[in-house]
Amino acid sequence: MNIVWICSESVPYAKTGGLADVSASLPAALAELGHNVSVIMPYYPQAMGDLCSRLKMRYEILDVPFFKWGERCVIHEDKISSNLSYYFIEHHRYFDRPFLYDYYGEEYKDNAERFIFLSRAAMEAVVALKLDPDIMHTNDWHTALCNVYLKSSIYCNSASFANTKSVLTIHNIGYQGIFPKEVLFLSGLSWDTYNYTCLEYHNQLNLLKGGMMSADMVTTVSPTYAEEILSSEFSFALENSLHHLKNENRLRGILNGIDINEWSPSIDPLIPANFALSDLSGKAQCKKALQKQFNLEQKGDIPILGLVSRFASQKGIDVLSYVIEGLLSSEDVQFAILGSGDKDLESFFSSLAKRFPGKIGVYVGYNNKLAHLIEAGSDMFMMPSRYEPCGLNQMYSMRYGTVPIVRATGGLADTVIKYSETNIDQSTGFTFDLLEHDALFNTIIWALSIYREKSANFAKLRENGMQKDFSWKHTASEYEDVYNELL
Ligand code: ADP
Ligand code: GLC
Repeated sequence: MNIVWICSESVPYAKTGGLADVSASLPAALAELGHNVSVIMPYYPQAMGDLCSRLKMRYEILDVPFFKWGERCVIHEDKISSNLSYYFIEHHRYFDRPFLYDYYGEEYKDNAERFIFLSRAAMEAVVALKLDPDIMHTNDWHTALCNVYLKSSIYCNSASFANTKSVLTIHNIGYQGIFPKEVLFLSGLSWDTYNYTCLEYHNQLNLLKGGMMSADMVTTVSPTYAEEILSSEFSFALENSLHHLKNENRLRGILNGIDINEWSPSIDPLIPANFALSDLSGKAQCKKALQKQFNLEQKGDIPILGLVSRFASQKGIDVLSYVIEGLLSSEDVQFAILGSGDKDLESFFSSLAKRFPGKIGVYVGYNNKLAHLIEAGSDMFMMPSRYEPCGLNQMYSMRYGTVPIVRATGGLADTVIKYSETNIDQSTGFTFDLLEHDALFNTIIWALSIYREKSANFAKLRENGMQKDFSWKHTASEYEDVYNELL
């Protein structure tokens, strides 16, 4: 199959979250299955840095119909293998910026314009590069409009898309691309698309909804999340549209895999010592290095609880902020925290590190190397998510012998098996159901007690997690099945 994957970010070029990991590893896994895969994304010179120099220009000037005047862009290619290429849409005014979507938490005012342009430019790039897709696969609100374009009078009779079926993956329904309806002018789409069965939502333009309603198949990134978003607690008010998709058999949940070339403790070049289940001495060295980096007391027997996260309401870090002082005061425990986002949480955790030196280390910002060290050097990893479409860090943790403590929601519920003595051969972590202060506090206390008092059971949890296979080998073929079904 010719598969075109359209997204707003991908590792190693630009990343703000898990979408970038998936946009690197799933296209590669599909290419490995023998398909021709082309990924289209923006050219972000500031995020891509040195990587820019390895790209080849494919199209010097591509005219993109846009609003009244049209826009021009350049297309670059990074050819990864004979059947996998990344294409980059270069447009300086839209994408040459210090961050992808916002400036220190403040969304760029022209995000509607930027991502409507990206969607239109991607459609034009498919035509210009003669990619002839069997499958056009878009991701989240940023590129959802491509699904609307495909069905629109602009492209429905185009020979380039004659045999194309479309898939939209929702990585996070909390972000929908909602804008004043007037911006529809930019897209060149007719006002026919602005109605309840497509882009219109409470008198505004909703790009994700339009994409969902137009796609031949909508997938989410875990089976549990596909169920959860049918309820108002998780749907961010799109449950009616989702029920409609479900009734038409157009909604599926496929669990994400992880890139085991990047996230494997036995080969990871970013950690100070490699290790495997057969010899965990390297993990002890990583723990020491983590304690050193965060100025934590250098002791092997104190448990370290790690966290790497966007500080967003989704992640439940606010709940952690309520219980962490109690834990620091009453327990012999250390914390290694990396994240950024909400300013109040950033300053709360920074001040905590000053008040409890030697017990908690905090790095506010984005740091991939440190993320690897926290996964490798911690004993446990916390994800008290309010909702979690899939979550990748819990899978990384398990591979690194770091036992996850999670709220059982979305992909966390699908990947972490709750500790119980009667199910010790299967258990991989500690889970709780209700996102309440007591539930999180008590679950952490429970995990600490198993670490201290039942070390053989804790070692078994660690071992079970390290033996899990979360690679794309299993789930890439589920996407292949969906594509085949559509074709
Ligand atoms: P989400 O995409 O919702 O943020 P995921 O668990 O799917 O959650 O993926 C998050 C990815 O981003 C992981 O690869 C994680 O290691 C990485 N990440 C998140 N915050 C940071 C940070 N501050 N520094 C480095 N990596 C981070
Ligand atoms: C989103 C979700 C996260 C998921 C990631 C990749 O960012 O918040 O749960 O793992 O997308 O699909």
